[in-house]
Amino acid sequence: RDRIMLGPLVAAIDQGTSSTRFLVFNAKTAELLSHHQVEIKQSFPKEGWVEEDPKEILQSVYECMDKTCEKLTQLNIDISNIKAIGVTNQRETTLVWDKETGEPLYNAIVWLDLRTQSTVERLINKTPGRNKNHLKHKTGLPISTYFSAVKLRWLMDNVDEVSEAILSHRAMFGTVDSWLIWCLTGGKNGGVHCTDVTNASRTMLFNIHTMDWDPELCKYFGIPMEILPRVRSSSEIYGLMKSGCLTGIPISGCLGDQSAALVGQMCFQDGQAKNTYGTGCFLLRNTGAKPVMSEHGLLTTVAYKLGRDKPACYALEGSVAIAGAVVRWLKDNLGIIQTSTELEKLAAAVGTSYGCYFVPAFSGLYAPYWEPSARGIICGLTQFTNRSHLAFAALEAVCFQTRELMDAMNQDSGIPLTQLQVDGGMTSNKLLMQLQADILCIPVVKPSMPETTALGAAMAAGAAEGVSVWSLNPEDLTEVTSEKFEPQINPEESEFRYARWKKAVQKSMNWET
Ligand code: G3P
Repeated sequence: RDRIMLGPLVAAIDQGTSSTRFLVFNAKTAELLSHHQVEIKQSFPKEGWVEEDPKEILQSVYECMDKTCEKLTQLNIDISNIKAIGVTNQRETTLVWDKETGEPLYNAIVWLDLRTQSTVERLINKTPGRNKNHLKHKTGLPISTYFSAVKLRWLMDNVDEVSEAILSHRAMFGTVDSWLIWCLTGGKNGGVHCTDVTNASRTMLFNIHTMDWDPELCKYFGIPMEILPRVRSSSEIYGLMKSGCLTGIPISGCLGDQSAALVGQMCFQDGQAKNTYGTGCFLLRNTGAKPVMSEHGLLTTVAYKLGRDKPACYALEGSVAIAGAVVRWLKDNLGIIQTSTELEKLAAAVGTSYGCYFVPAFSGLYAPYWEPSARGIICGLTQFTNRSHLAFAALEAVCFQTRELMDAMNQDSGIPLTQLQVDGGMTSNKLLMQLQADILCIPVVKPSMPETTALGAAMAAGAAEGVSVWSLNPEDLTEVTSEKFEPQINPEESEFRYARWKKAVQKSMNWET
């Protein structure tokens, strides 16, 4: 391989809920040249609580960078060609750290965490008409355990180190993007405390119309504004790497992972949509320059703002909390598989759930229900049911949840999706992709390069003012070939199974009564 011919390279840190990755792309062709991935430990200290270690998250980033650079060097690719780094991340996950010591003051509270359920219920009860959408006109979001503001409030009320650091003006709040950018650009020695509009729009403190922190929302949650990061666009130079093998390289892209996937899938036109299967599952539809408020349980979120002087683009989002996480649960909690890839084989061996329905409402139910008190159920069991049927039901659950998102999206926009663009780790499961097409009754289209989240962040980084190795023009990229899954079962069969699923969902929401 002639290394001179490669030209500029762009990189992305993809810090997801389950793992961290670092990926390097050819900036001219979008070819993925090398990457490394490290799994992230999750702890569940109490029922419904989900935490991660901020230092482990940071270390995993350095480890992935080092290993990827080593691999590139072995490939005879000069790492000095890396011109820009983008950050994309699990959204909403909440951290507070001490700006003088650089130390985190508590574990990161992961987006899936349910510890704020009673706070959320109390807040909703206090609104006129017990309306969970009381703040939606400003935030685009329902009041839910999902978003950062309630997690931050919990930290302020329950962790002495946090309340003390706030009183002595040493506290900094951030989602994972802010924590990483601050640490990578120098930390306590002058690190840059910022976030981008997409991540900010998931905190419940951000006004999606003014595109800034909202003093009234901060007052509502009792959050001091001085601890918030500065909000920037998704594509500009935030700072330079201050340590590690890429010291001196600008960090110039930042997007929440679902926004990054929308960019990486080139969904730049109003009406274009993608569904990403990660720990959760997220269907985003670009709605252009106008925020559209959902009537059917979807979120309104900032899709991207690719440059300081560029307009913001909005999206409607359907969020499902548990998708890939159900596979990890079957592996770690039930032990019915040893590796994630075994699931496909197991499910394929029977090709049916045999009437078994599995609603994995481990963190309550997100879109379109927003019901934090829902809990997981498995129903329809007989003596005939075995682990293969359960495996099939788990995969089917991911597909049914996506169907619910698509139905809501179609009702909101009035223009039904005619095919679904997909990406994310679970899309390598061909059985899942076929099932998805069968349950949606429309084709499912998967790009040949599945790392669209990282690609989106790398594109934003490469296109930043002052870097500009990438024009963000889809036509400049090598043709993206894709794989298409056509529906194969008849629609009546699909509707019958979906109706059964809906019954199971009702039971998961009323399992205590
Ligand atoms: O909102 C949570 C989302 O950003 C997490 O994404 O890929 O870790 O499931 P993922």
